[in-house]
Amino acid sequence: MGKTLNVCFIGTGWMGSTQLQILSKLDGIKISVIVEQNRVNAEEAIKKAGLGDTPITDNFEMAIEKFPIDIVWIVSPNSLHAHQAIFAMERGINVFCEKPASTTFSDYEKEIELSKANPKVMSMVDYILNFNPMEQVLSEMVKADEFGRIDQLQINYRHPVNIQGDKVWKLKKAFMGDAMGMGINHAISMIVRIMQIQAKPLAVYATSFNSKVRGFEPDPVWNIMIRYDNGATAICLGNIDVENGYDLYHCLAGSKGGFIFDSRLAVQDKIRLWGEKMTNGQWVYPLHPGFESTNALVQKITPDIMLPDSGDVLDHQIKIALEHFINSVRTGVKSPLSFDNSSLVAEIGWAAQVSAREHREVLLPMSSEDCAIARLL
Ligand SMILES: NC(=O)c1ccc[n+]([C@@H]2O[C@H](COP(=O)([O-])OP(=O)(O)OC[C@H]3O[C@@H](n4cnc5c(N)ncnc54)[C@H](O)[C@@H]3O)[C@@H](O)[C@H]2O)c1
Repeated sequence: MGKTLNVCFIGTGWMGSTQLQILSKLDGIKISVIVEQNRVNAEEAIKKAGLGDTPITDNFEMAIEKFPIDIVWIVSPNSLHAHQAIFAMERGINVFCEKPASTTFSDYEKEIELSKANPKVMSMVDYILNFNPMEQVLSEMVKADEFGRIDQLQINYRHPVNIQGDKVWKLKKAFMGDAMGMGINHAISMIVRIMQIQAKPLAVYATSFNSKVRGFEPDPVWNIMIRYDNGATAICLGNIDVENGYDLYHCLAGSKGGFIFDSRLAVQDKIRLWGEKMTNGQWVYPLHPGFESTNALVQKITPDIMLPDSGDVLDHQIKIALEHFINSVRTGVKSPLSFDNSSLVAEIGWAAQVSAREHREVLLPMSSEDCAIARLL
């Protein structure tokens, strides 16, 4: 364990109070101050985490000036992320940021600029599926060339985000930004992770729709197509408005194999895959009782593997994600999820919005003309 890391923790709502409980129990972490607008939320979270008399304030800037802080931990509503992250990075303070990185394109640009200009300041955007064991095995299979060239990849994100009670801010553009930032970027982050093993993205084409079931201001329904330099295509079908359950459907179609994950089936049927070598060319169900394989990668898909099949934050690898960032701060090694290293995930979200507005394909990296349009969204 290195020196004690002093944390300024912002936002103790649904995700924040869960993270606070886990983070505060990690070795060498001191929660120096909690920034919250809702004192009741903060006091409840402090009680649950057993943090005694930790100071609470609603003034973030004052907290940063008053307390010696090593990490600003941002779990506030989306529209506050960028100001809090930029304020901290400008003072040389490390930043853990819940997704999205920002709700405006200009702030996204500023975060990347600061992250690049300050290589000793660590940052991480919490694209939490990166820590999911099934996603990790899938990436390993792609790296081992078990599927050959990926021609098509579909990853959906359909999940009715929780807008109950004080979470009603998630309907409003001024607070939530857009539907990618509110959740669809989880699927995009997995598309980026898998496809970057083989190809570079060339362009994004997207359409969107306001289903108006629960009164979202920005369009909650998105169809995003990403075209790659090797001829491959990835598609993300997203909907944060209304759905019957959580849909993180994956369909990877390669020249030598394929992988399907369907979060809505009975557990034993959720994964099926084939590979010329991995399964002798047969479709198999590795979660079926009694299934056996001699392939070391297929063997990693066991009935107790944590699947990405739940919209409940408690069902995700929160502790591992938090430890990943603490390790990045302690070692000074930038996370693959730093603002600049993960920028493509956010850029695809911005390109999708420009594409849907202009009714045309948007090239990546975005042109100065498209960046100008994105700044006005
Ligand atoms: N990575 C994931 O899987 C994941 C999952 C859930 C939520 N999130 C993200 O976490 C963030 C919080 O979401 P949530 O569901 O916990 O929302 P929430 O509404 O339950 O919590 C937000 C908290 O921030 C507080 N707050 C509001 N204004 C504030 C201010 N000016 N200063 C400090 N605190 C303020 C609210 O009082 C509330 O307690 C969002 O950005 C969301 O996108 C990420």
